[in-house]
Amino acid sequence: MAELRSPTEFHDTIVILDYGSQTTQLIARRIREVQIYCELFPWDTPAERVMALRPRGFILSGGPASVYEPGAPTLPAYVLESRRPILGICYGMQLLAHALGGRVTPAPQREYGPTRVELSHPTPLLAPLADQPQVWMSHGDRVEVMPPGFAVLACSPNSPIAAMGDPQRLLYGVQFHPEVVHTPAGGEILRRFATEICGCAPTWTPAAFIEETVASIRCRVGDGMILCALSGGVDSVVTAALVHRAVGDRLTCIFVNTGLMRRGEPEQVVRTFRDQLGMPLIAVDATEEFLAALEGVTDPEEKRRIVGEKFIRVFEREAARVGRVDFLAQGTLYPDVIESAAPDRPGARRIKTHHNVGGLPERMQLRLIEPLRYLFKDEVRAVGEALGLPPGVVWRQPFPGPGLAVRVVGAVTWERLERLRAADAILQEELGRAGLLRTTQQAFAVLLPVRSVGVMGDSRSYEEVVALRVVTTEDFMTADWARLDPDLLALLSHRIVNEVAGVNRVVYDITSKPPATIEWE
Ligand code: XMP
Repeated sequence: MAELRSPTEFHDTIVILDYGSQTTQLIARRIREVQIYCELFPWDTPAERVMALRPRGFILSGGPASVYEPGAPTLPAYVLESRRPILGICYGMQLLAHALGGRVTPAPQREYGPTRVELSHPTPLLAPLADQPQVWMSHGDRVEVMPPGFAVLACSPNSPIAAMGDPQRLLYGVQFHPEVVHTPAGGEILRRFATEICGCAPTWTPAAFIEETVASIRCRVGDGMILCALSGGVDSVVTAALVHRAVGDRLTCIFVNTGLMRRGEPEQVVRTFRDQLGMPLIAVDATEEFLAALEGVTDPEEKRRIVGEKFIRVFEREAARVGRVDFLAQGTLYPDVIESAAPDRPGARRIKTHHNVGGLPERMQLRLIEPLRYLFKDEVRAVGEALGLPPGVVWRQPFPGPGLAVRVVGAVTWERLERLRAADAILQEELGRAGLLRTTQQAFAVLLPVRSVGVMGDSRSYEEVVALRVVTTEDFMTADWARLDPDLLALLSHRIVNEVAGVNRVVYDITSKPPATIEWE
């Protein structure tokens, strides 16, 4: 068998067609949260590929275009011909109206942000809006005339047709975005669409996923040998744990300690794998090699390139000692799969070269096993919990492949790495104590190549600056800085300056993404 089996073989499936909205992935996450499987495709994906999933219903996402513009994305004929239920969201609703003979025009006033809707016509799909009428709008066009057979289901001050439906044909449209948190009833509306209108059974659970995936890995691998590059992050750990459950000791994990991890992390990986999970683990300490390669390098992209390349070298060398290997297990997630399927965006600029192990399988001529390729990060965590992995691993915040090399701004030396590790450990400890490690999505310290004057006791000091970065985000594409309590910030600054030698000033990063990125380099 070529690939692991698709979840669509086991679960009722909703297909989301993507028209380019920033929030399309959130639609998929909301549907998955209610234990219904869904997949997302660019709107112009060939019909055979989409229909091969035997979708029970379609959701058409929002998007930036106007339906009446020449060359605007269209509603493919097979979607209507399938006679499955359809829910159009924003542009998706306008498209449905346009395709079925209604009329869409520019709204006299753009509607952006929160508004309230009023139900015009009772319908089970939108009934949750009766108690929670707040919705999130973001549109310049609106449906002016509905297609034949449709009724107005809700209206807002700027959209006389804020929702419409044809209950006979099970076709619905909402002008607002049910997928965002600012539409409190939105999750329930999407659940009702998937279960009550499309008839999907809520079977997409971590336990079902584990059972199906373990069986599928066994079938694919036969008596083959598997290798896994373990970074210590939740994706590679859950991948390894799933594969281990399927094939036991025919899996070998290789963990490369780059010397660029946070305090205590290399030890924790070894403890968790060897001691707690009893899995074969080759741990290589390549600190010296990485530091030598990075010596004198200050350019961020150069650091990223060096760490990525070095990692592949070390990994290949260790893998060669394992003996026969047939497969490489890799923690690719669904957002990566979606992004690689999306049409190239002309003019998109590379901001950072991400370091990951994507190049390994071709170089080593190994076949790939990607058990997480249909999962979002929150689903990976749920699977990790269901597998009984330690909470410290399951809830570990993301950590970039190049590690602290891109958080020690300027030259990377052992002394500066240790300084950063000490400051970062204080941040992690205090955020953990304040219960903020799950409510903020990424928190770390950055060591700046800037020295400033201070006064410690009666003496002058001239030492480095630590910046603290704590952000909240849903998808890491955009992020906001966390509004930490000033008393907590004071405690962090006090502890870092007093406990970390070589640092006499602490600053807090109050820049959102965009315009800043999350990491400093
Ligand atoms: P930026 O800094 O681009 O980061 O806003 C977005 C998210 O990606 C993480 N990041 C990386 N992850 N390899 C990774 O696997 C990398 O090279 C890398 N660089 C940044 C970053 O920590 C944040 O979560």
